[in-house]
Amino acid sequence: MAKKPVSTTSHKSSAQPHFSQKAGELQAFGTVTNTMPLQLEESVRLEMTEQLNQLLADTMTLRDLYKKSHWQVSGATFYQLHLLFDKHYEEQSELVDTIGERIQLLGGISIAMAADVAELTRIPRPPKGREEVPVQLSRLLDAHQVILSHCRELAERADKLGDDGTNDMVVSDVLRTGELQVWFVSEHLVEAPLVEADSERQSA
Ligand SMILES: [Fe+2]
Repeated sequence: MAKKPVSTTSHKSSAQPHFSQKAGELQAFGTVTNTMPLQLEESVRLEMTEQLNQLLADTMTLRDLYKKSHWQVSGATFYQLHLLFDKHYEEQSELVDTIGERIQLLGGISIAMAADVAELTRIPRPPKGREEVPVQLSRLLDAHQVILSHCRELAERADKLGDDGTNDMVVSDVLRTGELQVWFVSEHLVEAPLVEADSERQSA
């Protein structure tokens, strides 16, 4: 009879924590679990999670761009923009969590770490240094546009594939929040008189 292999570790209960444990990945990035009781085909979940990871990487980048702008803003509108940028940062942070958790519930793997996000995002990397307010605002609006156009494509595709949950999240959460933020940011780029009315402009 073959001898039982001798275990080198004890599996008896103990108060001693087990530190520095290592093992291979449970699931590779870019894959979905074979089955999930959602009544959604594996191929649909695979396509949606890939698209949602792109949306996630871009949303994380926009979120961080808002925090950068919050810290580095300067000038006469410092206070209002400092507050507005942080409000938008918080709202984008919520979206990041919503998108990330949707990827996981579809059986996929959410992108998470900054270096991986930097590789995937389509939003151009800003300089480390401080930029003028109009440049900050333009950069934010350009980033929003990348996300808004992707939202519209993705929502349509999700609708076609029958993934109503993804369609609803993309439209109700990501798209609508983005559109509202674009309005608030854009109005700061209107050249409007602050003290003296422009009396030379013809009235209609
Ligand atoms: Fe702050």
